[in-house]
Amino acid sequence: MKFFADTADVDAIRELNELGLVDGVTTNPSLVKKSGRDIVEVTREICSFIDGPVSAEVIATEAGAMIEEGRKLAEIAPNIAVKVPLTLDGLKACKVLTGEGKMVNVTLCFSANQALLAAKAGATFISPFVGRLDDISLDGMELISEIRQIYDNYGFETQILAASIRSVNHAKAAALIGADVMTAPPAVIKAMAAHPLTDKGLAAFLKDAKEAGLKIL
Ligand code: G3P
Repeated sequence: MKFFADTADVDAIRELNELGLVDGVTTNPSLVKKSGRDIVEVTREICSFIDGPVSAEVIATEAGAMIEEGRKLAEIAPNIAVKVPLTLDGLKACKVLTGEGKMVNVTLCFSANQALLAAKAGATFISPFVGRLDDISLDGMELISEIRQIYDNYGFETQILAASIRSVNHAKAAALIGADVMTAPPAVIKAMAAHPLTDKGLAAFLKDAKEAGLKIL
C-alpha cells in the first residue's frame, strides 16, 4: 500500500519523508489555503524533494478551463497528478489530460458509480472520501470495498486512493480491503506507530539495560 501525505505543509512532508513514509503527496485548495502559500510555488517546492505523484487540484469547473489549468500545473514537474473533481466536465478533462500522458487524480468521489466512470475516463487515481461519508452517517469503507470489487471485476488499472482518512482505524480498514493508496494527514500516519505495549516494553528494556550497565558504543 502506498502512503501519500495529505497536506501542503512542506515541513510536515519533509519530516514524514525522512521516516520513509511518503510515496506521494495530495493537496487541494483547502490545504493550500491552510499553508498560506501560492499554489504553484508550494507545489514546486514539494516536487523538489518528492519523487512520487504530487496531486495539485484545478479550480476551474468547465472542462476546457480545467484542461488549461491542468496543463499549467503539469508543467511544474513531471510527477504532478492533476486533480479534477468528479463532475462530467472533470471526467472530460481527465480523458484529455490522461490522453496527453499526464497523471490524473479524480477527486470528490462519493459513490461506486462515480468511481466506475472515472476508471472509464482513464483516471490514474480515484479518490473516494471516506471520512466525509462517515460524517453523514454513511460507511466510507463500504465504498472502498465496492470500488475494489468493481475495479477487480473488470481489471481497471485506476488506483484506489482512499482519501479523507481521519484515523488509524481508517488506515487499517483501507489496507485490509486493498486500497492501492491511502492519503492521510501526517499526524494520522505517525500515529500508526503508537502502541502502549511498545512504550511499556521499551521502558522495561531500558531499565534493565541501565541496571545491567550495558553499553554498545
Ligand atoms: O484527501 C482529501 C482530504 O484532504 C479531505 O479530507 O478530512 O477534509 O475530509 P477531509
